[in-house]
Amino acid sequence: MAGLDPGPVVAPIAGGAEWRRGRFVMRVVALRDDVLRVRIGRSRALPEDASWAVLPEARRQHVDVQHEPGGFATEAVRVRIDAYTGTLAVADAAGRVILEDAADAPFSENGHAFTLTKTLPAETSIFGLGEKAGGLDRRGRSFVMWNTDAYRYQESSEPLYKDIPFFIGFEPNASRRGRAYGLFLDNTFRSRFEFGVRHPGQLSFGADGGAIDYYIMAGPTPADVQRAYAWLTGPPPLPPLWSFGYQQCRFSYMSQPEALLVAHRLRAARMPCDVIWFDIDVLEGHRPFVINKQAYPDFPGMVEELGQLGYRAIIITDLHIPRLEGVGYAPWETGAAHNHFVHDANGRVYIGKVWPGDCAFPDFTRKATREWWGTLLGREVLVDHVAGIWNDMNEPSVFGTPTRTMPLDAVHRIEEPGFATRTASHREIHNVFGMQNARATYDGMLALRPDRRPYVMSRATYAGGQRTSVVWTGDNSGTWNHLRMSTPMLLGLGLGGFAFAGCDLGGFAGSAPPELLTRWFQLGMFNPIARGHADKGSRHREPYVDGEPHSSIRRAAIEERYRLLPYIYTLAEEASRTGLPMMRPLFMEFPDAAGGYALDLEGGNQFMWGSALLVAPAPFPEEVDRYQVILPPGGWYDYWTGARIIDPALATLTGGSGTTAQAGDDPEQMPHRVDRVPQLDRLPVFVRAGHIIARQPLVQSTSETPQGPLELLIYPGPDCHGSIYLDDGLSFAFRDGAYLRVHHRCHREPDGATIVSLGRHEGTFGPWWTRLELAIHDAAAPTGPVRLDGAVVTDMRYDAQARVLRLGIPDQPSGGRLVVRS
Ligand code: GLC
Repeated sequence: MAGLDPGPVVAPIAGGAEWRRGRFVMRVVALRDDVLRVRIGRSRALPEDASWAVLPEARRQHVDVQHEPGGFATEAVRVRIDAYTGTLAVADAAGRVILEDAADAPFSENGHAFTLTKTLPAETSIFGLGEKAGGLDRRGRSFVMWNTDAYRYQESSEPLYKDIPFFIGFEPNASRRGRAYGLFLDNTFRSRFEFGVRHPGQLSFGADGGAIDYYIMAGPTPADVQRAYAWLTGPPPLPPLWSFGYQQCRFSYMSQPEALLVAHRLRAARMPCDVIWFDIDVLEGHRPFVINKQAYPDFPGMVEELGQLGYRAIIITDLHIPRLEGVGYAPWETGAAHNHFVHDANGRVYIGKVWPGDCAFPDFTRKATREWWGTLLGREVLVDHVAGIWNDMNEPSVFGTPTRTMPLDAVHRIEEPGFATRTASHREIHNVFGMQNARATYDGMLALRPDRRPYVMSRATYAGGQRTSVVWTGDNSGTWNHLRMSTPMLLGLGLGGFAFAGCDLGGFAGSAPPELLTRWFQLGMFNPIARGHADKGSRHREPYVDGEPHSSIRRAAIEERYRLLPYIYTLAEEASRTGLPMMRPLFMEFPDAAGGYALDLEGGNQFMWGSALLVAPAPFPEEVDRYQVILPPGGWYDYWTGARIIDPALATLTGGSGTTAQAGDDPEQMPHRVDRVPQLDRLPVFVRAGHIIARQPLVQSTSETPQGPLELLIYPGPDCHGSIYLDDGLSFAFRDGAYLRVHHRCHREPDGATIVSLGRHEGTFGPWWTRLELAIHDAAAPTGPVRLDGAVVTDMRYDAQARVLRLGIPDQPSGGRLVVRS
């Protein structure tokens, strides 16, 4: 950074340090011990302190730091700024570098555009940036952030629908350096990231304009980084329970009878399902907010009928408002009358073509416009009848233009608490447009139904958008490669703060053949959102369409999802508190994996479903070859058979039972490698030893109360534990204590006794079950009576072949201690 007088200086400020040289000023502040904010001004002043992504309470706070010459230190990091060059280096408390500016040219500018360059050690992998196609490790590639309608995108397509300019640098087995760090560039302009492309030892990022304002999260683990990012941008709110059931969509169910037929057929086929989605043909001329009365003569009556069958309805509400003069179309008339639309460079309402024809675009960066939008949701059919709203096309997508969006010089207005009131070009607003659309919908639903959790699904978004919407990966295709791509894409979204994300099961565009569709149903049941969807003109993709054996296999996959709902909802609640995704890359759960093999696994698309389940689809789902599953250290069970996994190569180290033969040769500390031959009827899933998983009796939708005991599947191993979270699934009463939380534990005593400590019920919400059915895996036959708090348990079955002990006991709100001697 070349500059003039006054001479360069690094000065202490509250919570950090400030560097000035010539027209440049850089302020580095420790918001927390492990989170730094870096702002750079290029005209002697810092940029405006405003953000669509970062919560004001996070941005405005700082910790006390220890000022040192040329920088400062917190409990977690040491910050150094070179007074002459302004280069920034961040190390951990022990002095190991976490992230540092490149020695030469760490900063460059070109008009309003800027680029920052940092070092990228050879051992560092890069994850994140949200929804990106291709491999999970982003190293060696460059990316653009510019929300784009990318119908039928490819593995190489860039950019896609969402802009999440946050990444994690991770070095496995780090002996010298910090293990994981996060970096979030809070800039809404078109931005670019490249990781070791121009120079193998450097990464760089920058934008076409706007503030230089970024955050560094020091880790040291990937989960620490993830929690810090959620602290900055907010965790996603807990969605309703029903949204974790199976959801059925199509572009479109063309009529009321057709939609009802699908609903009845799903029930007749005993395929559990919670939601039927209504795409744009439910609308008159594709006009948002107006039901097509020819096709859907009684939409409210139909929704009620669906409700009796145990379904909820979600309706699409695209953001574009058709220009319909004089026909009484209130969204246009009130929007135009109150100046709610984005303008073109000449000050007229900007008009672009989308589904309904010529349309205007609400100016969602105005609070008043968002509130007006919210009132539209109360019209006619919407909030009284539907459970959720789908905001599509909000990149925004505009047909018939080469850029597929509005012109860069379109004029938006920022009239927003926390921001200076001003106009802003589309260059600046484009990437937050969809996020503000979804926010308006979320807030509107909340205003209309304050006691119900809003459910909004959005296609475009920006960092922080997880506070108001869930997302899906747009218009994928019904091809084997898209099935494969869905895993890294959803993992990327989870790392980007969107714990609640899904892909169109079966692929949107084109018609997936039966076998592909079956495999997609199996894998999709381990995605946060499981929604089948299909393009107009493609073959029907409902799970029952292909007959046997497909129907049975798909039914079994969906049923297992429903059985696992207690585990799934508990994961969702954890995500809503901590920001930790439901679907997790292996390196997040096993950051200490020696030799980085946990990273090698990512190429195979293995992932963790919470911390207990490992899902291991074939690396290439259309291949029939045997493939190897690598299970990180710690011990594993096969989810489907309950059998303990023994790697044949390690079996000699054990007595064949998984118990350690010799200290120092502990097979539990080594990865297990097991082969799997692809089978149409089974997706390999493994359980990590040391976990307790809750399952429920089968229901056809979450509106049914499960009948019978709650199952606790106990997989003994180190630190064996499991939690359950439950509430009414719909309202915010959990915030006032109306929830149930239980922590269970299990351990083995040196004398071989297994002790299960059943937790006490926390919270005021009463569960649907009164009894528990425990299944203790890898159990020897009991040698005496099993006792619960001293009383003999009579409902007991031991399966010697499977080595599973089943026990039926009452669920005691005060907890209990179960002792099994064997
Ligand atoms: C877009 C959406 C797709 C939807 C269609 C019609 O292509 O991505 O999901 O079905 O528009 O609304």
